Amino acid sequence: MKHCTSLSDITDVQQVIDQAIAIKQHQNSAPIGKGKTLGLLFYNPSLRTRLSTQKAARMLGIEVIVMNINKEGWTLEFEEGAYMNHQTSEHIKEAAGVLSCYCDIIGIRIFPLFNSKAEDEQELVLNSFKKYCTIPVINLESATAHPLQGLTDAMTIQEFKIEKPKIVMTWAPHPSVLPQAVPNSFTEVMNQLSMKHSICNPSTHNLAPHIVQSTPVFNDQAEALKDADIVYVKNWGSNTYYGEKFPIDRKWTFTLAKWKLTNQAKVLHCLPVRRNVVIEDAVLDGSQSAVLNQAENRTYIAASILTELLQANL
Ligand code: CP
Repeated sequence: MKHCTSLSDITDVQQVIDQAIAIKQHQNSAPIGKGKTLGLLFYNPSLRTRLSTQKAARMLGIEVIVMNINKEGWTLEFEEGAYMNHQTSEHIKEAAGVLSCYCDIIGIRIFPLFNSKAEDEQELVLNSFKKYCTIPVINLESATAHPLQGLTDAMTIQEFKIEKPKIVMTWAPHPSVLPQAVPNSFTEVMNQLSMKHSICNPSTHNLAPHIVQSTPVFNDQAEALKDADIVYVKNWGSNTYYGEKFPIDRKWTFTLAKWKLTNQAKVLHCLPVRRNVVIEDAVLDGSQSAVLNQAENRTYIAASILTELLQANL
């Protein structure tokens, strides 16, 4: 694996998860990253990704440099041949070259701007770092993918050891327009692992057809949730009405009454979660909530991915 910018960069997803489970069980890893440096660049806020990736790196003996690049760095230019007499101060060619001198791996978080679906799907920032860096690049969540989260979600489900679980990812309301990165990566990882699942969302919020493929999609939440063993609750922005803000529709909030339709399902959410808008307190505060199991597993998936990148590239 040269980079980890999407799940398709990973040859054997199950092996990455198995390695993460082994790291978790032994609570240590060989310090194979001793003398190496990981740079983490954040254009957007983060709690879990930032801290779990730092923790994972330190478990492997890797030094970590973290930068809120949007606030602390020069404004970067991405256009080839740009005449830079306006707002941008440094070209990606130099910035990526410099980072490649200081670091052995870099991770980047860059959310979509929601001005244009085509522009967001281009992933210009992430792909430019990938193009001009001479070191591996990890996607820490972009417009279209959050591979570390998707791998973590699959690991968390597998840890429950439920035979042929009924897995449902249901949309829920949110006051902001959110990226499709998490539901995209969840759907992709389920398909890569041949884990049967379904998606439930309002007809305005279908994910992109190339992501959904043959996954069953329901518009009736009660029908979808019936007898589910795993329910992943998540908001995402509309793909059809890209960037449009919809009024909060509380009919889609995941409540205890809805949980009672399931087979005592474990409830997942990648966090952060807007309580009582996305998921009701009674669900998040009950034993059915697995959101902290997910958050904990982020560390072990990050350690597994860093191990893969170190072994493949250094
Ligand atoms: N789930 C997740 O990526 O959390 P953060 O946005 O806090 O990193």
